[in-house]
Amino acid sequence: MSQDQDKAKIILESGQQAELPLVKGTKGEAGIDIGTLHKQLGLFTYDPGFMSTASCKSAITYIDGENGVLLYRGYPIEQLAKNSSFLEVAYLLMNGELPKDDELAGFVDEINHHTMLHEALRSFFDGFHYDAHPMAMMVGVMGSLSAFYHSELDMNDPEHRRISAMRMLAKVPTIAAACYRHSVGWPFVYPRMDLSYCENFLNMMFSLPSQKFIDKENYIDPVAVKALDVLFILHADHEQNASTSTVRLASSTGANPYACVAAGISALWGPAHGGANEAVLSMLAEIGTVDRIPEFIARAKDKNDPFRLMGFGHRVYKNFDPRATIVREVCHEVLEKYTLDDPMFELAMALEEYALKDEYFIEKKLYPNVDFYSGIIYKALKIPEEMLTVMFVIARTAGWVSHWLEMMAEPTRRIGRPRQIYTGYDRRDYVAPEERQ
Ligand code: SDX
Repeated sequence: MSQDQDKAKIILESGQQAELPLVKGTKGEAGIDIGTLHKQLGLFTYDPGFMSTASCKSAITYIDGENGVLLYRGYPIEQLAKNSSFLEVAYLLMNGELPKDDELAGFVDEINHHTMLHEALRSFFDGFHYDAHPMAMMVGVMGSLSAFYHSELDMNDPEHRRISAMRMLAKVPTIAAACYRHSVGWPFVYPRMDLSYCENFLNMMFSLPSQKFIDKENYIDPVAVKALDVLFILHADHEQNASTSTVRLASSTGANPYACVAAGISALWGPAHGGANEAVLSMLAEIGTVDRIPEFIARAKDKNDPFRLMGFGHRVYKNFDPRATIVREVCHEVLEKYTLDDPMFELAMALEEYALKDEYFIEKKLYPNVDFYSGIIYKALKIPEEMLTVMFVIARTAGWVSHWLEMMAEPTRRIGRPRQIYTGYDRRDYVAPEERQ
């Protein structure tokens, strides 16, 4: 195959040729537009896991895996984590620009307006056992919003799409906190208009009727609020990861947006994706002590052992995940503020140090990813282990709805329908039961 600045030429051994245009963005790798490949050569491309496949064009997030770069609408994640708030970043992801003061105030006010859930949805939770995994409840409840918002939705109307996105971003913390309250048998706490997004979430999670709401500072720890805000910013978006791609593929059929985001929540739940933060804590608990680290590193390298070092490795980052570096710093700050000498944090740092010096991890470029330390922070904030991926859902809803809005605004939307390489039987005739071997 040869490539000049605008096209690629494929020449098969048979002599057949195809000329395919290159698709270039503003940064990063270009792509070969293979839309006419089958027509020209009668061939498909084959790329399980989409290692080298761009599924769309997007202007939302840019990742440079080799250099550990992450930009949201061009702004470095380090600067946003330091200077911004989660709702300001959500506005940026959804609208493409940082909001002016009045724009942010209006956005926050509208989010506050949509934080409540329909009262009929409360009884929906009664259908879950108390020990239902919160992620199972999140999938069900987010999907059930499509039962409340469907008939009046016109997906071709940009305002209908905007409101749907705002509703999901506003309601996801309320749903998340309700999942937790249901699992501990506590009454639900309603969102308040006088609290910020993260203050509201903590209040809905942990406030008890028996406690007086004396004043915010004494009641909702500002350290916890800031840590949450940063963690939500870091988890808000990450280009075409598995769950975002799931939302895009479901949305390509024109399905109800709440149902499509529920599909994204399902995809995020897996331990290879957003479920890794919960899996990291379970792994650290299983390792237990520093002296057992070599045993588990050996298992992670053993091809016959399904054990993987959770929180390590990434499809795109072949260098440090820039988010992991920030999360590690936040982890230090939170544990210091709470004067927690959490042995799990010491163990995590020892495990990171050991792995980063191990030939296998170096050769395969396996570095800590965003999920390696986040669970320890959530644990320090008293967020239970089963709620960790739910925390990821809250943040990534900003990214999911942003990609949904971007995709639905495209003038020509095509249903996503990949092909396959068939490995089954050739045509054969039916065999009557009595004649089967
Ligand atoms: C997230 O896509 C995103 O952007 C995701 C995310 C986001 O913000 O949306 O960043 C969030 O999901 C972070 C990733 C969280 N998952 C984990 O921490 C789980 C542990 N990590 C692995 O399962 C794995 O690294 C993945 C799933 C993250 C990446 O898998 P890839 O890109 O398919 O890589 P691979 O499985 O092909 O691994 C390449 C090699 C393999 O060895 P060989 O077959 O080449 O000999 O590296 C090995 C793997 O066995 N390997 C690991 C490993 N990760 C990869 N070996 C041990 N421990 C690991 N964690």
